[in-house]
Amino acid sequence: MTNDDIVSDYTNYDYKKIFWEDGDREYEDKADRLAISRLLPAKAGVFVDVAGGYGRLADEYLNRGYTKVVVFDYSATLLEQAKELRGDAVTTVQGDIYDLPFEAGSVDALMMIRATHHFADIQKVSDQLAKILSPQGTAVIEVANKRTVVKMARYLLRKSDVNPFSYDTVTLKDLNDKGFFNYSPKYIEDVFHKSGFVIDKVLSVSNLRSGFLKKILPVKVRLAIESPLQFVFAPLRFGPSTYYRLKKK
Ligand SMILES: C[S@@+](CC[C@H](N)C(=O)[O-])C[C@H]1O[C@@H](n2cnc3c(N)ncnc32)[C@H](O)[C@@H]1O
Repeated sequence: MTNDDIVSDYTNYDYKKIFWEDGDREYEDKADRLAISRLLPAKAGVFVDVAGGYGRLADEYLNRGYTKVVVFDYSATLLEQAKELRGDAVTTVQGDIYDLPFEAGSVDALMMIRATHHFADIQKVSDQLAKILSPQGTAVIEVANKRTVVKMARYLLRKSDVNPFSYDTVTLKDLNDKGFFNYSPKYIEDVFHKSGFVIDKVLSVSNLRSGFLKKILPVKVRLAIESPLQFVFAPLRFGPSTYYRLKKK
């Protein structure tokens, strides 16, 4: 596997402007923030936002009094943006997730949001995260879910041949024509267990992510419905994003 295969390179992509600001994704952004605020630990020493991009979600961890906050990403341009936006509140570290430049057991808490869909070898990524996490540490990981209500309906109505009920990982195509992976809940949970994680809490997130609902319901209304659904749908893993809070065995 070449470096080109394993890295989704955001260096020349204005992720903040194109995806978030021009992309009309206020609901998705706020749904992420709600989940993170519910899952991150109240206290931590070293915290790493893994594949954190430009630190979009930094408000959710900078207010917690963590001793040291690191934004880690492959893209040097996104990290520069993180520095411009957050200054000395964050330390930025550039590198590849398949070879994380942190000592084993040196990280007290980490999160990785909206990144699993990029990684062809998710077991290796999960192993890396488990390795750097301290024995009492907490990892909050968002996973692109294959078994959503919408994908089930499309499959059952024969509008899609992607089987949301199967164990295998599905590969879609993203803007860069690279792999774009969605995972079965059972598969990803097996991956986490193999890395030595135990699942502490689960939330189903972005449950109302739909072009149709976007047209008929204001963001405020969707968020009011989203809030309880994050808990209600969690056992069913129904939403497009599943958030896991993991501890080490
Ligand atoms: C969809 S963005 C998510 C950014 C941020 N977590 C957020 O939610 O706004 C995916 C991020 O993964 C990073 N990334 C992709 N492949 C990577 C790799 N192999 N190592 C480190 N970061 C990587 C990209 O640079 C990008 O910032």
